[in-house]
Amino acid sequence: MTKKLVGLTIVLGALGALSLFTYALTQNKIVIGYNQGYMPDQPIPFSHELHSGQYGMDCAFCHSSAEVSRHASIPSLNVCMSCHLVVATQSEHIQKLTQAYYAGQSIAWEKVHLLPDHVKFDHSAHIQAGTSCNTCHGPVESMPVVYQWSSLSMGWCVNCHRQPEHNAPLNCTTCHY
Ligand code: HEC
Ligand code: HEC
Ligand code: HEC
Ligand code: HEC
Ligand code: HEC
Repeated sequence: MTKKLVGLTIVLGALGALSLFTYALTQNKIVIGYNQGYMPDQPIPFSHELHSGQYGMDCAFCHSSAEVSRHASIPSLNVCMSCHLVVATQSEHIQKLTQAYYAGQSIAWEKVHLLPDHVKFDHSAHIQAGTSCNTCHGPVESMPVVYQWSSLSMGWCVNCHRQPEHNAPLNCTTCHY
């Protein structure tokens, strides 16, 4: 009898803890697994500040798939070499790019942003609704080294979806498999 009671208490306790946990997450009371400010070292010191800030290159020039697919994607060496076969050829970094290009290799960029596997995210839905890159990624055009500007927490996503002007879905399956 007491054994059963103990068992029941444990089950109820676990259920209570789980719903409290879900509530806290949904209401942005706790934020877990965030890497805000994450700025990994990159194999080539590519500067967004130089290319987009100083030279005014549009984000879409290199991340064109953001408008049409889930991923914004990282440009291939072809995109870089359209300039760097002639620009700054004396730089050791550009020589590394050129070597990789002729060897048919790609640059192993370190990923900056990474949502957990159980989350669905889609760039195109956001770009088509008129959300700008900077809203989520911050002032990338003034970053010499790009870093994770937002928390990417569930509360962060949900808070924006909740705004009446965004009229974005809030059910769990919108963002979870
Ligand atoms: C000349 C090409 C080029 C342009 C223009 C460019 N980017 Fe990038 N972007 C890259 C490359 C290459 C990387 C991977 C290296 C790195 O992380 O620095 C990258 C990485 C990123 C990342 C991090 C990706 C990750 O790993 O999570 C974000 C966010 C980003 N760019 C946003 C932007 C935004 C916003 C703009 C416009 C202001 C822009 N980029 C313009 C080439 C470009
Ligand atoms: C609503 C917020 C939001 C907007 C707007 C947004 N991004 Fe992202 N971006 C993210 C998130 C979240 C990730 C991480 C996705 C993942 O891990 O699956 C990401 C990842 C990236 C990456 C890494 C490669 C990839 O696709 O996973 C690049 C590059 C990038 N974004 C560039 C851009 C550019 C350029 C724009 C504007 C055209 C843009 N983003 C607009 C939230 C956003
Ligand atoms: C539209 C032309 C253009 C494209 C495309 C372009 N760049 Fe550049 N890049 C430049 C210019 C201009 C400079 C400044 C050169 C200088 O200061 O002499 C530069 C400078 C650089 C430098 C610094 C070189 C040094 O040592 O001073 C690196 C590294 C670099 N780019 C990497 C890349 C990568 C990687 C890509 C592809 C993702 C890329 N660039 C695409 C025009 C471009
Ligand atoms: C700055 C505001 C903002 C942020 C931050 C944001 N979203 Fe969105 N999201 C929107 C808007 C606006 C839409 C488009 C709503 C519409 O018009 O259908 C949208 C749509 C979506 C859709 C497509 C829904 C559908 O079925 O059409 C998914 C999936 C999504 N968001 C996931 C996420 C995730 C995951 C995050 C956090 C990593 C996030 N969003 C962060 C504003 C935002
Ligand atoms: C607008 C997008 C969005 C919606 C809607 C959403 N989530 Fe999430 N959720 C996320 C993101 C992004 C993460 C990963 C970041 C984090 O853990 O904060 C996450 C993480 C979680 C986690 C944590 C899993 C872990 O790693 O431990 C749980 C549990 C969860 N969500 C449950 C829910 C439930 C239940 C709902 C419906 C009430 C819901 N989510 C609706 C975006 C969303």
